[in-house]
Amino acid sequence: MMKVVKLGGLIWLLLLPLTLAIAGAPQDNSRIEARIDTLMAKMTLAEKIGQLAQYRDISDENLALIRAGKAGSILSVRGAQATNHVQKVAIEESRLGIPLLIGNDVIHGYRTIFPIPLALASSWAPEWVQKSATVAAQEAAASGTHWTFAPMVDIARDPRWGRIAECAGEDPHLGSVMARAYVQGFQGEDFSASTAVIACAKHYVAYGAATAGRDYNTVDISEQTLREIYLPPFQAAIDAGAITIMSAFNCLNGVPASANYFTLTQILRQEWGFGGFVVSDWNSVGELLNHGVAVSYSEAGKKALLAGVDMDMGSHVYNQNLADLVTNGELAVADIDQSVRRILRVKIRKRLFEQPYVEPEREAATVLSAENLAIALQVARRSIVLLKNDNHLLPLSKKLKSLAVIGPLAADRYTPLGSWVCEGRAEDVISVLAGIKQKIADKKILSVQGCDIAGKQTDGFAAAVAAAQRAEVAVLVVGESANLSGEAASRTSLDLPGGQEGLIKAVYATGTPTVVVLMNGRPLTINWTAEHVPAILEIWQLGDQCGNAVADVLFGDYNPGGKLPVTFPRSVGQIPLYYNHLNTGRPPAADKFTSKYIDLPVTPLFSFGCGLSYTQFDYRDLQITPADFGDSAAIIASAVVQNTGDRSGDEVVQLYVQDVIASLSRPVKELKGFQRITLAAGDKQRVEFRLNRNDLGFYDKDIKYVVEPGLFKVWIGGNSEGGLEGSFEIRN
Ligand code: GLC
Repeated sequence: MMKVVKLGGLIWLLLLPLTLAIAGAPQDNSRIEARIDTLMAKMTLAEKIGQLAQYRDISDENLALIRAGKAGSILSVRGAQATNHVQKVAIEESRLGIPLLIGNDVIHGYRTIFPIPLALASSWAPEWVQKSATVAAQEAAASGTHWTFAPMVDIARDPRWGRIAECAGEDPHLGSVMARAYVQGFQGEDFSASTAVIACAKHYVAYGAATAGRDYNTVDISEQTLREIYLPPFQAAIDAGAITIMSAFNCLNGVPASANYFTLTQILRQEWGFGGFVVSDWNSVGELLNHGVAVSYSEAGKKALLAGVDMDMGSHVYNQNLADLVTNGELAVADIDQSVRRILRVKIRKRLFEQPYVEPEREAATVLSAENLAIALQVARRSIVLLKNDNHLLPLSKKLKSLAVIGPLAADRYTPLGSWVCEGRAEDVISVLAGIKQKIADKKILSVQGCDIAGKQTDGFAAAVAAAQRAEVAVLVVGESANLSGEAASRTSLDLPGGQEGLIKAVYATGTPTVVVLMNGRPLTINWTAEHVPAILEIWQLGDQCGNAVADVLFGDYNPGGKLPVTFPRSVGQIPLYYNHLNTGRPPAADKFTSKYIDLPVTPLFSFGCGLSYTQFDYRDLQITPADFGDSAAIIASAVVQNTGDRSGDEVVQLYVQDVIASLSRPVKELKGFQRITLAAGDKQRVEFRLNRNDLGFYDKDIKYVVEPGLFKVWIGGNSEGGLEGSFEIRN
C-alpha cells in the first residue's frame, strides 16, 4: 500500500501555494466555507469523526490514532518541541494532514503565574485581568498551545465548592466584566495571531450551583436563576468573541449539561447565535451513563452530539461509537458534518494550516520575561484585599527593629501557584517571607513556622510565641494549601485547617500587635481572628510575585484597593449566603418571628464588595439625571468621591440598584456597575454610571425578559452595604 505518510506530505506540498495564497487573503467567510467544503469532500467518515475526538496525551495508542487521521485535538502537550513533534505526526503522517488543535489549561498564567481567578476578581480591575490573560496567551502560544480551557466563568455562591477559587465570585455583573476581559486578553483582536490563544468559556452551565457545594453534584435551579445568575458571564464571553465553550459535568434540572439540548443548542446557538464549537469537559460524555440517561456509550455519544457537544475530550465515546451510529441510521452524516465544520472553521480561522508550528527560540524568549513578571506584580498588588486595619496598624514601618514572621505558609513557594499551575514552578515564586526580606534586613526578622497546615500539632507554638514576644509586630501567614481548593476539593468546613487558629490565638495572646495574612482559595469562617486580630489581609493565592506584592502592601509601598468578589459567611451553616438575595416576607429584624438564626447573626462576616484602604474615601452628592426614565433609554447615576486621607489610594466605586416592586420578587441589591479609580490625597472626582433601561430587566414568570415600570432604588458606595441612596422611576 502506498506510504500514506509521504502522500500526506505531498498533498500539502502541492496545495501549499494555494494554501499560502489563501493564508494571506483576509479570512472572509466564503473563502473559509469553500476551504471546508473542499477538505470535507476528501474526508472519510472515520476522518470526520476523528476531528470530533480530543486525546489527553501522546501515548502510542493516541499517536496511532493521529496517524490514522482519527484525532482532531490533543491536550496536555506543552512546549514548542513537544507540540511541534505531535503536530508533525498529524501533518506529515496522516492521509490528509489536518493540523491538531492543541489545548491546555492556561487558567491564570502559563509559566508566569498570576493570582488565581478569585484573586484577580478581587482587583475589580478588568484592564489588569486582561493584561494577565494577554501575557498568558503570549507565553502559551509561543510554547505551542493554540487553545486554552479558560476563562472559567462559573458563578459560585457556595464556598464549600473548591472551584470557587477558579472563578470570579458570586456576582453575574462582575463575572461578566471579568469574562470579557479574559477573552479579550486571550484572543486579542484576532485569535489567529501567533501571540493569541483561542478562549474556551467553561463550565457550561451552572456548575457552581452544585448542591451542598459538593463538586460534580446535582444542580437544580429555576430558569430565572439560570438566566439571571449563571448564563450572563457565558453570554459576555461569547459577545467578546469566545469561539469555544466547554460543557460541564453537572446535571442541570435533570438533564446533564453535556447532553442538554436546551442549553447547548436552544440557548447557545438559537438564542445567542454562537458560531464556534463545544468541547465536553473530560469524561462528561461517558458519564452520561452514571447520570442514568444513557444505557450505553453509543447512546451517550448520540445524545451528546445531537444535544450540541461537537468535540469529545478524551472519553473515546465519539471515536468508538459514532461511525456505527451512522451505519445503523441512528445518526445522519449531516449530524457529524455539522460538528466537523465547526471545528475545521476554528482551525482555519486560527490559521493552523498555514502556521502549525512554533519556533523554540521564541518560547525561550517569551516565558517568564522580566516584563511579564512586572505585570504579574502589578496584578498581584491590586488583588489584595485589606479586610481589617484597626488603629492603622498597617502599613508597617521599615524602621521596625524586629518583626516575627510566623505560619506554615510564610515561606511556602508552592501554594501561591494555586490549583491550576500549568508550567508554573515553585522556584519562580517569591514567598511572603522572601518578599518581607526584600524590605527589611534579615537580622530583624524572626521566622517561625509554628505549625503545619493540616495537623493539630501545637509543639511549634512555643517558638512562635517566643518570637512574637521578642518582636515589635507579628505577621502570621496562614490559610489553605493549594490542594484544599480547586477541582474535587470541596470542604464541609470553612475553618482554617489544622491548628492554625490556635497558633493565631497563641501569638495574639503575647500582646504583640498581630497581622494575619490569609492565603486561601475560598472564603473562610475566621470569626475569632476577625473579632480579635487588628489587621487582616486577604491575599488568596497570588502567583509568582506573591511575596513582593504582599511586602509592598505590608510596608505601604502599595496601598491596597481590592474588594471581595464573594461573601464571607460566619458559619458554613449560613450557606448559601450571597448579597443579591430576595427580601423574604419577613426580612431579618429584632422580632423573633423573622428570617434569621437563633445562634448566629444572619449577616456575613465580610460582605461582597468590601475592602479597606490606607486612606479614606468620602461619598457625597448622589445625582440621577434625568431624575426618572421618561422615554430616555438611559439615566446617569453619579456621586462625588473624595480621598479624605493623607495618601493616594484606589477605590472601587460600586453602583447597585433594586427593582422595588415588580411582578416577581427581586433582589434587595444588584451590582450594575463599578469603577476602580485612583485619587491622590485630598482629590475628588465625580464618578458617573450609565444605566440603560435594558440593564433593569429580569425574566418574568413566563421567562420573558421584561423591564417593568415602577420605583428603583440606587446606591453608590464602596461596598454592597450602605452607600449613598437615591431612587428613580420607570414610568412606562
Ligand atoms: C478538568 C476540568 C476542566 C479542565 C479539563 C481539562 O476535569 O473540569 O476545567 O479544563 O478537565 O484539564
